[in-house]
Amino acid sequence: MSELNGRVGGDPLISLVTSVPKVWDPEEDDVLVCRQVRVETHDVKTFLFSAREPRLFRFKPGQFLTLDLEINGATIQRCYTISSSPARPHLVSITVKRVPGGPVSNWLHDTMAPGKEIRAVGPLGEFTAFDHPAPKYLFLSGGSGITPLMSMARAFHDLSEPRDIVFVHAARTPADIIFRTELDLMARNMPGFKVVHVVEGEGGEPGWAGLRGRLSKEMLAVVAPDFAERTVFTCGPSPFMAAVRAILGASGYEMARYHEESFNFEELSPADVADIAEAQVAAGETPAADAAPAVPTFRVEFRKSGKVIECAADRFVLDAARLAGMRLPSSCTKGLCGTCKSKLLEGKVDMQHQGGIRQREIDAGMALLCCAKPLTDLVVDR
Ligand SMILES: Cc1cc2nc3c(=O)[nH]c(=O)nc-3n(C[C@H](O)[C@H](O)[C@H](O)COP(=O)(O)OP(=O)(O)OC[C@H]3O[C@@H](n4cnc5c(N)ncnc54)[C@H](O)[C@@H]3O)c2cc1C
Ligand code: FES
Repeated sequence: MSELNGRVGGDPLISLVTSVPKVWDPEEDDVLVCRQVRVETHDVKTFLFSAREPRLFRFKPGQFLTLDLEINGATIQRCYTISSSPARPHLVSITVKRVPGGPVSNWLHDTMAPGKEIRAVGPLGEFTAFDHPAPKYLFLSGGSGITPLMSMARAFHDLSEPRDIVFVHAARTPADIIFRTELDLMARNMPGFKVVHVVEGEGGEPGWAGLRGRLSKEMLAVVAPDFAERTVFTCGPSPFMAAVRAILGASGYEMARYHEESFNFEELSPADVADIAEAQVAAGETPAADAAPAVPTFRVEFRKSGKVIECAADRFVLDAARLAGMRLPSSCTKGLCGTCKSKLLEGKVDMQHQGGIRQREIDAGMALLCCAKPLTDLVVDR
């Protein structure tokens, strides 16, 4: 008996579940330790992390972490949605799809292993059904865009919340369906939870009995005939989300109940395109010497690349760099994710961020270029 007590008492796992750890606070310790790696599909892995000391993770399902990584001597940030459920708060997981040629997704797949450490900040983001309570949801996901919707579904499942959810996941082939078995299990456990997989082709699974093709108005009418009554959450590639918006818009859906999140901000928004057109017209029609800028323009030097651009006082540095043809790292372009964080070697900016940078980083001369306007000439360490 005493031997058993001794063994049990000394087991840190027992104290982990019988005590209440503190909430994880990346301001105090932003290191996460990898505990397990799960292979989900041929190009998707889930990485489970906990803090170095026992900590609970508090987040709304759908929120993301920004990883701060050192890869081949360079600091690089990327956002990853927390795919786990906030009702299982001892661990957080991210589920990552390899992007061909992508530096971070491939590095995670090839090197992240139990015991390895990374730095992360968050949770951040507002894409969550928990802030938009509704009796009926329609979750529409494409590819790796399944992760925030999976976290939301897992949370409803873990909390035994009897929500009516139609969860549609679009994948290239059945072998690309992420969380397939778990989604089917949740559908068995929750009477109001319906899972619909849509594949473009059957790949190595001849005899696929599910839906085939791309999401269409007709398909949506079959899988969720009452979609007009549902609050919709969509995450996936830009063309997938554009198709969803077109289908819903054409059906007279009340778009105030439509929510989406994009992982891929590379595509130019209509506003960007208009800006570029404007800049091109200005460059072609107005000789630079004659141009009388309405607002002051500052010189921005990028020290590592050696590029020098002009940035008007009313333009964000990231936008000016993009207009000048530079490709700087960015994701949210809203001051949220931290991807565009850069060191200001000289100069001052007016920065209105939304949590993507910490005060101590600002104090150390860092800035988010997507939401920073120049107040002086700048030298940026990029
Ligand atoms: C809020 C947010 C949450 C995210 N959550 C996840 C997540 O849960 N799981 C996940 O795998 N990724 C997620 N991402 C994308 C992730 O941040 C990285 O962009 C992705 O892992 C690729 O990183 P990389 O460094 O390998 O390639 P990058 O240098 O980022 O990208 C290389 C090229 O691939 C394109 N690309 C980037 N991401 C994708 C993608 N997912 N699918 C197709 N093309 C892409 C880019 O446009 C770029 O041209 C999220 C992004 C954001 C902004
Ligand atoms: S791109 Fe997200 S904070 Fe700048």
